[in-house]
Amino acid sequence: MTDVTENLPALKDEALNAIAEASDLSALDAVRVAELGKKGRISGLMKTLGKMSPEERQEMGPRLNGLRNEVAAAIDARKAALETAALNAKLESERVDLTLPPRPEPVGALHPVMQVFEEIAAIFGEMGFAVAEGPDIEDDFHNFTALNFPEGHPAREDHDTFFMHPDENGVRKVLRTHTSPVQIRTMMSEKPPIRVIIPGRVYRKDWDATHTPMFHQVEGLVIDKTTHMGHLKQCLTDFLAAFFEVETAETRFRPHFFPFTEPSAEMDVRCDRSGDTIKVGEGDSWLEILGSGMVHPNVLRNVGLDPDEYQGFAFGMGVDRLAMLKYGMPDLRPYFEADVDWISHYGFKPWLLPSLSGGLS
Ligand code: PHE
Repeated sequence: MTDVTENLPALKDEALNAIAEASDLSALDAVRVAELGKKGRISGLMKTLGKMSPEERQEMGPRLNGLRNEVAAAIDARKAALETAALNAKLESERVDLTLPPRPEPVGALHPVMQVFEEIAAIFGEMGFAVAEGPDIEDDFHNFTALNFPEGHPAREDHDTFFMHPDENGVRKVLRTHTSPVQIRTMMSEKPPIRVIIPGRVYRKDWDATHTPMFHQVEGLVIDKTTHMGHLKQCLTDFLAAFFEVETAETRFRPHFFPFTEPSAEMDVRCDRSGDTIKVGEGDSWLEILGSGMVHPNVLRNVGLDPDEYQGFAFGMGVDRLAMLKYGMPDLRPYFEADVDWISHYGFKPWLLPSLSGGLS
């Protein structure tokens, strides 16, 4: 007992010195454990209180408590000081000189597919189309059934669909095989007149120079009471001339089949293939560019619209291929290889948003 009493001032000095000398947070924590931890020196002294006589305890209790509180307060204060010093050092090392001029070299570029999305949105925006979007993971209803794909119909397999694992009810979702399911979503959430384009990623099991398992489409949908096939043709012909930045584009329809349009047609654009690159708007060759048609009456019924009252057209085009054509890129695979040299060669300045008045590309 007398030992302890005599040693207390020395013990306190020792502890406070160790705290003052701790040069970082982990050294400080080592001091805390050595003094105040479960097996620490001061904690050990506190435990002796239990064995003391009441008189001794009355004297020693406050002294030991005082010691413990003083040491704990010193640790807290040192901790705060060390944390402030660490933060200041970090701020100092990450200091940014805002007076430096910007880097002269370009930093990053817009991917051609994103550029073409912007160009398409600018052109259709001028024609009064809004942009709609939907999820990449779709259900069977939106991707197939509501679009008039009959149950078990081979057209379902045509799309080389990626299926998700079945859920607890055995239902499999799909990675959407086209942007057409967003036609359904739009018609179920908006009232006609509807005039939208739908840019997005789509997925099919395919992989070669002109096919990748993920690619991009832009869908178009117009629903009102009077729009007909002639509007479809002129709308897309005007679009193609604007997109390829030529005076006029000549197009032709070829009969085709899609479950969700009737009649259906693929559209070709006149082009010249005699040189190294394909030139749109001249020449004596044709290039298939998109699928289209009048929205099928069954599709209108499936979304609760009366086909005797409403009608309209839809189209869908592959954006990656449009980008290849417009910007002379021969192979699709580098699109997805994240090659810095490729993107700095084919990429676009991100701050130059395309517009019909300011120029598309
Ligand atoms: N969804 C079709 C496809 O991916 C394209 C299309 C869209 C055709 C709209 C007609 C109407 O092939």
